[in-house]
Amino acid sequence: MTELESAAKKLIEEIFAVRPGETVTITTDYDSNMTVTRAVADAAQNAGAYPMIIQCPTPGSVGKAADQDLPVEVLSAALSATDVWIEFNHQWLLYSTPYERAAADNRKLRYMCLVDFNEDLLIRTVGHVDTPQLKIFMRRVAELTRNARTMHVTTPAGTDVRFEIDPVHYVACDCGDASFPAVHMLTGQINVVPRFGSIQGTIVFDGCVTPPFGRIPDEPIRLTVEDGIITDVDGGVDARTYESYLRQFDDPGMLKMAHISYGFNPGAQLTGNIVEDERVWGATEWGIGYVSDVDAPPCGQDAVSHTDGICLRSTVWLDERCILREGVVVDPELAALAPKK
Ligand SMILES: [Fe+2]
Repeated sequence: MTELESAAKKLIEEIFAVRPGETVTITTDYDSNMTVTRAVADAAQNAGAYPMIIQCPTPGSVGKAADQDLPVEVLSAALSATDVWIEFNHQWLLYSTPYERAAADNRKLRYMCLVDFNEDLLIRTVGHVDTPQLKIFMRRVAELTRNARTMHVTTPAGTDVRFEIDPVHYVACDCGDASFPAVHMLTGQINVVPRFGSIQGTIVFDGCVTPPFGRIPDEPIRLTVEDGIITDVDGGVDARTYESYLRQFDDPGMLKMAHISYGFNPGAQLTGNIVEDERVWGATEWGIGYVSDVDAPPCGQDAVSHTDGICLRSTVWLDERCILREGVVVDPELAALAPKK
């Protein structure tokens, strides 16, 4: 078995736990990698499932803005009836109308967003990962985070930020278990929505910032945050562009911090692809803008859009307990649970 075949088998059998007779729908566009697509379809067939590859011309945009380029009715019907939906699109369908209909109508749907995946990306972020051990480690980190009152994060680039954990908010843990109906993301991320208004300090993006860049900025972008609101943006040319980008929405929600995520995929590398960068081991990612009411009941955080940036080599304290130091797990209990790289 090749490394690609082995990674595809892991995705289908270990992560999705696909059973014989299930339907596995893989959506693609003309910019998708069809070698990966075919490998995953073959793995589904080998597991006794019915794979189905759907390919559309690449939409001009993503999410809801892609609707105008899509066969919305037919796509919605297929995705509303499938057991598993793996999205390998370049211009993602996440948050499009077919996605929203499938998520609302298909109670059995196990979905995962794997945009712009190629062979190497699947091999290093799925194939090479010790998923069973990672699950144990990540679930313990998520549990410790849920039970903490405060979180404090610093980085060598200058991040120094504190906030309160809100026990009502949902701590999502994507640790490689897509065996149950839900919207899943690539293995290796724990997401925390802080208590709104409690975030204080400095956040420095020294990894990929998307949108608008889709790459690492020319100089780190430094955000000053008071009571959860961005009051200053500093850095190089990209920092000025980023501040203009945030302010052009003319929406106070686009100056509010939304969430922080831990990156814990042992295979993820800094490549400028946000999906991979935000899972680089020991990085944290901050989102700005919209938060759903699922992540932060009862109302979420309203904003017209959402943008994310990465803080590399994070040091994290949960109350007084330091769990990560410059991206390395230093807490003895967690270090013993972490998968060997
Ligand atoms: Fe985000």
